[in-house]
Amino acid sequence: MNIFATKPLSMLLKEAEESGEHSLKRTLGPVQLTALGVGAVIGAGIFVLAGLGAHYAGPGLMLSFVLSGLGCAFAGLCYAEFAAMIPLAGSAYTYAYATLGELFAWIIGWDLTLEYAMGASTVSSGWSNNFVELMNVVHIKIPLWLAYDHWTGLRTAEGVVARQMAQASDASLAPGTQAFVDKVMAITTAQSPELLRRATELLNAPHVFGVDIGFNLPAFVIALVITAILVIGIRESARFNAVIVVVKVAVVLFVIGLGMKYVNFSNWGHDWASFAPFGFSGIGAGAAYIFFAYIGFDAVSTTAQEAKNPQRDLPIGIIASLILCTLLYVMVAGVLTGMVPYQQVNIEAPIARAFLDRGLTVASNVITVGALAGLTSVMLVMLLGQSRVLYSMANDGLLPKGFFAAIHPKFRTPWKNTILVGLLAAIVGSITPIDDIGKMVNIGTLLAFVIVCIAVIVLRQTNPEQARPFRTPLMPLVPILGILFNGYMMYKLGWLNWARLIVWLVIGLVIYFMYSRHHSVLQHGREH
Ligand code: ALA
Repeated sequence: MNIFATKPLSMLLKEAEESGEHSLKRTLGPVQLTALGVGAVIGAGIFVLAGLGAHYAGPGLMLSFVLSGLGCAFAGLCYAEFAAMIPLAGSAYTYAYATLGELFAWIIGWDLTLEYAMGASTVSSGWSNNFVELMNVVHIKIPLWLAYDHWTGLRTAEGVVARQMAQASDASLAPGTQAFVDKVMAITTAQSPELLRRATELLNAPHVFGVDIGFNLPAFVIALVITAILVIGIRESARFNAVIVVVKVAVVLFVIGLGMKYVNFSNWGHDWASFAPFGFSGIGAGAAYIFFAYIGFDAVSTTAQEAKNPQRDLPIGIIASLILCTLLYVMVAGVLTGMVPYQQVNIEAPIARAFLDRGLTVASNVITVGALAGLTSVMLVMLLGQSRVLYSMANDGLLPKGFFAAIHPKFRTPWKNTILVGLLAAIVGSITPIDDIGKMVNIGTLLAFVIVCIAVIVLRQTNPEQARPFRTPLMPLVPILGILFNGYMMYKLGWLNWARLIVWLVIGLVIYFMYSRHHSVLQHGREH
């Protein structure tokens, strides 16, 4: 048995011919493909995670977005070469199978689960933050323990108590002033027993077996609703997607246009030290964190079989959506850190809150509603992508076909794997802090990007004759830069996330060696 066996390109293309998918209508042109990319990309990263990103990088968050965007652009150019050469669904998993062999294909497929399923968890948690914000507007207070996971709930409660304590300690401190913020931060950092006691009291979580429960109910429910939609098969049609994309981009432009008027340039600092309070290292840490905001552009490559002219349009779709999003993100980061001193940027719903704190209630509500719609479509694309990858892996025999490739007789969707993944995403999203899942998604996706960059170089050597309708420019500089930029962001995510990634991959390898290798269709075919 050869665990490095590659699936020949000819075989892949033949499968595409034979598969029912071939009958998918080729309807998507460059504009729709770009819209699809933007639809999958703009989400929790910009509407939620940018908040903590500002705390990592300061106003230098703008550069974090540039850095992260460059890493994605290099990887995106490599994705584009593959997407044009192997215009099949399955994305990086399929590319790795054709180039680096089965073991790497498995690793990528397993790793993509982090990107898509856990990515959906992250977005559901971000969705919930915006939902809670909206409920506040209509004066519905969800108990903290039902609005957040345990850790986030406790941190939120601590923030509330710390503000009360700051005011009680000195009545002359006005909320919103720097002195007030400093006082609150000092109280939070000190973590006095008094603070913890009052925060726990405020949280008022039920105990189960002596453990305080925190359950993000909105995140749980939205993930299940999306799962149900996917099972029934109302796939985000191009038209539905287009509407959401227009809403999303309009809201982002609204944030930029209106927010610009409220930018106080002194918040950006007057020299490098105040622009980047934590130096280049902080900008790098910010980039590694807000990398999440870019995830999803690779989803364009999974629609290869629905594109009118995939060889020309897939690269256009990938690169155009990346450029568009980078421009929008840098401007939003500028507005956010210009409107609010970076230490005061809210973490749960930073953009909506920045406008609310300026008294722009209506604008803030518009942004919250837009974010909710936008995040919903991101979740749809992610869970859909996940079910497609698992479906491909099961058809290759690497996962039990009877379960993971089972098609619902009426809805014609891979319903069993969709339900399993949706349930998993709902559970993880409801009990884990968004930062932790987000970082794990990032490190997993960055690894996939690095492997794709390596694979492009490998395939140029092993398969030089293959027709390449789109060629990654400046070979091998672009993939090498992709490996360096994305590798640097992986490094910046720290040892804890590396440990999590390694544990995840080890579990995957155990499954591969215990099950997949023995059931692989490719291996089986070779042996007999
Ligand atoms: N890029 C997507 C988001 O930010 C995953 O939600």
